[in-house]
Amino acid sequence: MSTSPLQQETIAADFLASRLLTSHSVSTGIILGTGLGQWVESMDDFTAVDYAEIPGFPRTTVQSHAGRLCAGNVQNTPVLALQGRFHLYEGYSPDEVCFGLRTLAILGVQRLIITNAAGALNPLFQAGEIMVINDQINLTGRNPLLGLSYGEPQFPDMSQLFSSRLADLAHSSALRRGQRLQQGVYMGILGPSLETPAETRMFRQLGADAIGMSTVMETIAAKQMGLEILGLSCLTNKNLPDCMAPTSLEEIIAVGQDIGQRLGDLLSVLIPAIANSH
Ligand code: HPA
Repeated sequence: MSTSPLQQETIAADFLASRLLTSHSVSTGIILGTGLGQWVESMDDFTAVDYAEIPGFPRTTVQSHAGRLCAGNVQNTPVLALQGRFHLYEGYSPDEVCFGLRTLAILGVQRLIITNAAGALNPLFQAGEIMVINDQINLTGRNPLLGLSYGEPQFPDMSQLFSSRLADLAHSSALRRGQRLQQGVYMGILGPSLETPAETRMFRQLGADAIGMSTVMETIAAKQMGLEILGLSCLTNKNLPDCMAPTSLEEIIAVGQDIGQRLGDLLSVLIPAIANSH
């Protein structure tokens, strides 16, 4: 464990500041989930650094994608993007899962868009839709603030984890494009096994509208660092306990690619809208 809080992340941020950043500060960060890999390269003035080159960054396992930290502009709005993330189910610790996001915050990011792939639990939602996350349930049994060594606040308030201002902007940007977004509660589980019908029934009864294996560590760490957070879930499949259809990772990735296209189009208008909303 590092002796002072966020020491490794600060070293990584100093390295990146010399490698990536232009003179103007970057206030928007994004964590790209399944299916958004190509969108990032559509940014103007695109540059990227492999995670492997960044001091202190977690090393990737064979299963996971290599991963890059990317910089670029979306209609003149500077963005820093994490392409490829680390999951608890791969065996990473909460600190490793949150390393990239904490580095972005040290670099000056104030607003964070977190995207993911999730299974729909709300029977009114359909696979292929995008859900704005308005709250979360962390059912992983882990917490990125464990140890109380990450500075203040040690017990961050979670009464409004996700920004309703950013959620409103997401809905209005989508509606202007003729697209309706769903909204609801995201439940984060450890994985990697998918849910049984009995678990699905229980998770729905606990109040979740969608379920996935990422995001909840990063949002807690981001909130502790004072970031304004928008969460967007790509609903890649639908889980109904009483007519449970088999799901595979391949299917989740394939549908994720398709929604990723639409989510990318939305991000291209949403990011400038967020930047201009201040
Ligand atoms: N369950 C858990 N994680 C997921 C799912 C799911 O159905 N779909 C995409 N990620």
